[in-house]
Amino acid sequence: MNGLPVIIALILILSLFIFFLYIFLQKKIYKDILIKKFLTKNTIREYEKQINLYLYILNNLSDGLTIVDKDKNILFVNPAFKDNVRSAAFPYSIKKFEFLIRNFEINSLVDNIINKDNLDSIEKRVSYFDKANEKTVNCKVFKIKDTEKYAVIVRDVTYLQKIENIRATFIQNISHEVKTPITAIMGFVETLKNGAMDNHATGIKFLDIIEHHTKRLNYLIDDLITLTKIETGRAQIKLEKINIKSSVEHSLSLFEKEIKEKKIDIVKNIGNGLFISDFSKINQIIINLIQNAVKYTEKGGIIKIEGSIQGAKTVYNFIAGVEEASVLWDNLSRAETLKEFFFFSIEDTGIGVSYTNLLRLGERFFRVNSSHTTEYKGTGLGLAIIKHTLKLLNGAAVLKSSLGNGFMFTFMIPLSQDYINIKDGEQDAPL
Ligand SMILES: Nc1ncnc2c1ncn2[C@@H]1O[C@H](COP(=O)(O)OP(=O)(O)OP(=O)(O)O)[C@@H](O)[C@H]1O
Ligand SMILES: [Mg+2]
Repeated sequence: MNGLPVIIALILILSLFIFFLYIFLQKKIYKDILIKKFLTKNTIREYEKQINLYLYILNNLSDGLTIVDKDKNILFVNPAFKDNVRSAAFPYSIKKFEFLIRNFEINSLVDNIINKDNLDSIEKRVSYFDKANEKTVNCKVFKIKDTEKYAVIVRDVTYLQKIENIRATFIQNISHEVKTPITAIMGFVETLKNGAMDNHATGIKFLDIIEHHTKRLNYLIDDLITLTKIETGRAQIKLEKINIKSSVEHSLSLFEKEIKEKKIDIVKNIGNGLFISDFSKINQIIINLIQNAVKYTEKGGIIKIEGSIQGAKTVYNFIAGVEEASVLWDNLSRAETLKEFFFFSIEDTGIGVSYTNLLRLGERFFRVNSSHTTEYKGTGLGLAIIKHTLKLLNGAAVLKSSLGNGFMFTFMIPLSQDYINIKDGEQDAPL
């Protein structure tokens, strides 16, 4: 009987052990579940937050991004693709990459990466036409590490490409424009040195030619300095009193010889007004315009010139009525304080330009058919200077023309608070 209390004690100890073990296990399981639940919820929330953040960034990137699988199924595409690749409504419903971009070059870049095992990344600048506009994008395609997925990144570099083209054309043009007079000057100096100087009349003739080319070079440099000054914001506006009539007459007198030679009929309708603005800049615009009209109008043609001071309503109505085939350079602020404008228009019956070329006027060195037109001399800076000067003076211009049907250029410059309504007969601007 001695063993019974021992057995009971053992059973009790065992029961207690099982009880505590049970409690312990219960607690651990409970804890486990609790921790697991807590962690999972938080982690998912964290992941969600991060994914949303990345999506937000990707959707707001200015670079277009698409991720495709090896069959070119679209897995992800951000909205910038719309702006960078195509202007049509963004086709979210499109599932295949080749339907998203119908550009052969970009598609072949993607095909190359997918099909060539040894190629992980490829980059190329691609130019194409989107509606009527030429676009250039930088396209980079790469395999996403350890996956069968591929990323296509497109960056719109149209603006950059344009600047590069302008720079290249600029250097090409400037070299040509500088080289031509220098070659001529060098040639005539050589001829003079080789004996032509002995004959006074020939000597004078050659010196005249040298002078002509030196002047040409000087004008070119002056034009470039003017343009650069305006473009870099270093040009200052100097206000002076301007007499419309004498200003136009003075500009016209510079071309008297050509006008007579070409028997061009000048029809003028110039008001008597005086106004305050930048005399030399306005004069430069008028001179460049008259020069073009005279240059690009054939013998016996007509040039009509109108100059006046007009109210804001007339000017805004004029701009609102601009036909579709015209080009508008608009820098008007439309501030209510602007009540008066200097309004100038010049129309010729000359060779005119096509609408495609009309759109390009004002680009530095742009000349219609510049490569094979030697008939009309020039550098293609005149209208660029006008365009920039109008911008500086907050003015606007309307260019109207068609090939073979003359050219019309109208510009208007606001006369702000500084405008004083000077009555006729008051002192003229210095000319
Ligand atoms: N009145 C016009 N009629 C026809 N074409 C014109 C007229 N004015 C300008 N153009 C075209 O626009 C181009 C650019 O004109 P712009 O005045 O800038 O240069 P340019 O006359 O060639 O040289 P310059 O720098 O000496 O003025 C011209 O080459 C010409 O093709
Ligand atoms: Mg010109």
